[in-house]
Amino acid sequence: MSQAFDVVVIGGGPGGYIAAIRAAQLGFKVACAESSSYDDPKGEPRLGGTCLNVGCIPSKALLASSEEFEKINHHAADHGIKVGSVSIDSKKMIARKDDIVTKMTGGIQYLFRKNKITLLKGHASFEGKGADGYQVKIDGKDKETVTAKNVIIATGSKARHLPGIAVDNVLICDNEGALKFDSAPKKLGVIGAGVIGLELGSVWRRLGAEVTVLEAMPSFLGACDISIAKEAQKLFAKQGLSINTGVKIGDVKVDKKGVVVNYTDSAGKSAKLECDRLIVSVGRVPNTDKLGLDKIGLKVDERGFIPIDDHTCATAAPGVYAVGDVVRGPMLAHKAEDEGVLVAEVIAGQKPHIDYNCIPWVIYTDPEIAWVGKTEQALKEAGIAYKAGQFPFAANGRALGMGRADGFIKVLADAKTDEILGVHIIGANASDLIAEAAVAMEFKAAAEDIARICHAHPSLSEVMREAALATDSRALNM
Ligand code: NAI
Repeated sequence: MSQAFDVVVIGGGPGGYIAAIRAAQLGFKVACAESSSYDDPKGEPRLGGTCLNVGCIPSKALLASSEEFEKINHHAADHGIKVGSVSIDSKKMIARKDDIVTKMTGGIQYLFRKNKITLLKGHASFEGKGADGYQVKIDGKDKETVTAKNVIIATGSKARHLPGIAVDNVLICDNEGALKFDSAPKKLGVIGAGVIGLELGSVWRRLGAEVTVLEAMPSFLGACDISIAKEAQKLFAKQGLSINTGVKIGDVKVDKKGVVVNYTDSAGKSAKLECDRLIVSVGRVPNTDKLGLDKIGLKVDERGFIPIDDHTCATAAPGVYAVGDVVRGPMLAHKAEDEGVLVAEVIAGQKPHIDYNCIPWVIYTDPEIAWVGKTEQALKEAGIAYKAGQFPFAANGRALGMGRADGFIKVLADAKTDEILGVHIIGANASDLIAEAAVAMEFKAAAEDIARICHAHPSLSEVMREAALATDSRALNM
């Protein structure tokens, strides 16, 4: 007889494994199917999805290594620290990153055991629906069909590839190959100045690569607040990242010397980029094929996403839910996690809620970029009257002590009610500082609330308070 579960989760990434844990906490009998083994030496499926295996976690490990290298190489002298010649052992750096990934994925296996979640090793797809619920076929090391009253689809996304550009993950790489270079390429090309292109381009630039980024859009970082994008472009150019916007990519060839990208620049002139390696980071597409969705009467939209109810993540098939990168909204691990928790609680009959306007965004460049809520351009477009307050890290003692004076925080508040509508940061530790803004916005705080809250001195968080004060033209230290 096939195993029967209350909840089967398809996909063990941040959306899926968190949904499985929350459902188990709520007392359900839960299984989670995972098929991808990534680089597991035994070929065993690994939990954690793109984020843990080939995304957020490994890229942040490399970011940290490259930042240490840059600090010692270029900034130690500012502190009066003399160092001899500094070199990087890329193999060791990659091994450290792999160790962190192994630890983290092993940690989820432990959490599965602790919460009595059954791991189904193999590719899961719908076979149909019977009296006992949905039949889900597992095809892999485990070959069986299980039944479930509720199914949560959390299959994530994969890198979008461009027609005519064959990704081999050696010379032409997506996010997976770009995390495995055994040495810094002399010349690195990047197609797409989005999150991945800028984060990984920055890593390899710090380690010595000459990096050229080719971006199709005429503007830079279009999703960011326009003043943050301008500041970022200025700072990245100063660091030596060459960013070319408004280009049209032509053919890409591999020859004995490396990769040649022919393109048309923003002035309409033909141009050529010769590089040792190329990263293609032009977005991601949802993994919704080969799931047997047709067997349960589900269809995807024209971009491959699964349509869902905006409040409950329920699909058109009763008892089937979808979360994370396979549904609308930003492709962010923390958004997927929150949807995973939400769905488990919906199944349990609770009434959870996600305010998508309060989901923080972070780009882990140096300095980091982080924001929550509306940009200034979005407020203008919507005709919302607002006031803006901005404060630079250069006027903060802690930032100066850290040698991290670049960037600023901008607070946008409603002109009449003073409610915070958006907070935008470019600067050191932006990924942590943004949490205060997300909390404030969830509680519908006013800029004055932040301004009246005591912030520790000396700390970077004082910049947030000063920016909030600046919305009322009463910053104290400027
Ligand atoms: P992205 O959507 O951030 O950026 C892709 C860039 O490529 C855009 O600027 C786009 O205009 C450009 N582009 C598209 N087609 C092009 C073409 N033919 N030629 C030149 N440029 C072209 O996508 P990315 O960087 O691949 O990241 C994928 C997803 O992963 C994002 O949705 C992001 O949210 C997520 N992610 C998030 C991270 C974070 O939160 N820090 C880190 C890494 C990824």
